[in-house]
Order: sequence, then C-alpha cells, then structure tokens
Amino acid sequence: MLLTDKTALITGGGRGIGEASARRLVEYGAKVILADVNLEAAQGVADDINAHGGEARALEFNVAEFQAIPDKVAEAKAIFGRIDILVNVAGITGSTPIEEITLESWDRMMDIDLKSMFFVTQAVFAIMKEQGYGKLVHMSSLAALRGGRSSDASYACAKAGILNLSKCFALQGAPYHITSNAVCPGNILTPMGKTLSWSKVDPKTYIPMGRYGTAEDIANAVLFYASDLSDYVTGDFMNVNGGLYM
Ligand SMILES: NC(=O)c1ccc[n+]([C@@H]2O[C@H](COP(=O)([O-])OP(=O)(O)OC[C@H]3O[C@@H](n4cnc5c(N)ncnc54)[C@H](O)[C@@H]3O)[C@@H](O)[C@H]2O)c1
Repeated sequence: MLLTDKTALITGGGRGIGEASARRLVEYGAKVILADVNLEAAQGVADDINAHGGEARALEFNVAEFQAIPDKVAEAKAIFGRIDILVNVAGITGSTPIEEITLESWDRMMDIDLKSMFFVTQAVFAIMKEQGYGKLVHMSSLAALRGGRSSDASYACAKAGILNLSKCFALQGAPYHITSNAVCPGNILTPMGKTLSWSKVDPKTYIPMGRYGTAEDIANAVLFYASDLSDYVTGDFMNVNGGLYM
C-alpha cells in the first residue's frame, strides 16, 4: 500500500478535514497521531480507527501554546519512532467585518492559524531532516487566493501566509527529500463550514459542480501530497473547490 510503514502527525485530527485526512491515510497503510486541543474528539476518532483494524493514537495538543510545541512534537515522535508526514490542519475561522477587527482578534487568528503552523512545522522539520525524508501538507484556503468572503480579512491573511510558509519549507527541505505543499479547500461542509454564511446558500446557484465539498474531497488531495506519488511536487498548492475558483 501507498503509505505502509509511514507515520503521520495530523493536527486538528479530532473532526472535519483533519479527521477525514487521518482516515484516508490509514486506509492507505499509515499509522496516525491525531493531535487536537479537543482530546475527547481525537480519542473518539482514534478508538474508531483502531476498532476497524487501523493504528491511531490521540494526543492532546493546543498548537497555539507555542512554548510547549517542541515537547509535544517530541512526544508525538516517541509514539511510533518517526514522523514521515505532517498534516497541518488545526485552525479556526472568523467572520468579523473589517471595521470590527481588533488587535486582539487579529493576533488570535494569526496565532492559531499561522504562527502555530510555522512553529509546529519547524519542530517536525528537524526530525524530517534527520530522517532524510518528509512530507509536509498545510491546510490553506480559497480565501488565501481571492480574499475572505464568508470568512474575514484576518483569516484570509493567515491563510495566504501559509502558502508562503509552505514554499519556504519546500526550498529548505528539498535537499533532505522533504516536500512541502498546501491545499486550498473551497466551501467544505464540516462543523466549521456549517458556521459560515455560504452554507445557507444553495450550492447549485454558484458552485460549477453544484455541491459543497466534503472533508473526504480534501483528504484525497492530502493523500496525494502525503504519498510518494507527489515526490517531484513541492512548493505547490492544490485547489479543491468544485470549480468555484479557477
Ligand atoms: N471547512 C471549510 O470550508 C474550509 C475551507 C478552507 C479551509 N479550511 C481549513 O481547513 C482546516 C480544518 O477545517 P475544518 O472545516 O475541518 O474545521 P473544524 O472546525 O471542523 O475542525 C477543526 C479542528 O481543529 C481543532 N483545533 C482548533 N484549534 C486548535 C488548536 N489551537 N490546537 C489544536 N487543535 C485545534 C478543533 O478542535 C477541530 O477538531 C482549518 O485550517 C480551516 O481553516 C476549511
């Protein structure tokens, strides 16, 4: 199988896109660590994967507690002895009008959606360099490419930052056989998606493919970037949006 003997750390693995990505990687042979601030959710997903023949562990991990990141990543590595794949999914969204964005709300968004992603990746990158192998996959957004519509400006800016973060790791990782790529999901019906205004609009009226995306649609793109099928692809991103943006 595509991911036999590979181990993956997935932040935000407790539900939505992170959960679906974990399940997809397990289907193709990977062992997964579900890292989430919501341990109960991550444990529930891990228990279900283990009950169905996969191998998963849950790890309580608030990615915005920056001082703790090196220890948490070391704890994650100790579980299976390696981290071959990092899928950076944990994040929040916001719908604050520009006039109402405050210094505090801006910083919170940057902390959770961008700064955490850099420092989690930095810690995992050191492990991957030692291994001489790694696959980094970062969850960006359609908002990174065309501005925030249902989501707000701070979210769109954080997600745009992720695209460049990904390229920087791609450049420095290339000599170590580490690839770094991002996924830009469109409107995906997850628990987060259901809080956004687009989820109240009939997708047939504005999405060429006539439906919202599923977490599994995104997991398929994650699988490509997490596997050796994408070995000559780095610093790239994939749009998964049913034709909403092209
Ligand atoms: N749903 C969409 O339409 C959509 C579109 C574009 C991008 N995205 C991005 O995809 C990612 C996942 O989105 P989703 O729709 O699955 O969201 P979700 O809210 O359904 O799931 C997010 C998961 O991340 C976890 N999380 C949140 N903050 C955390 C923290 N500080 N530390 C660790 N875990 C944390 C949550 O507990 C939850 O399990 C996010 O980065 C989001 O911005 C989603």
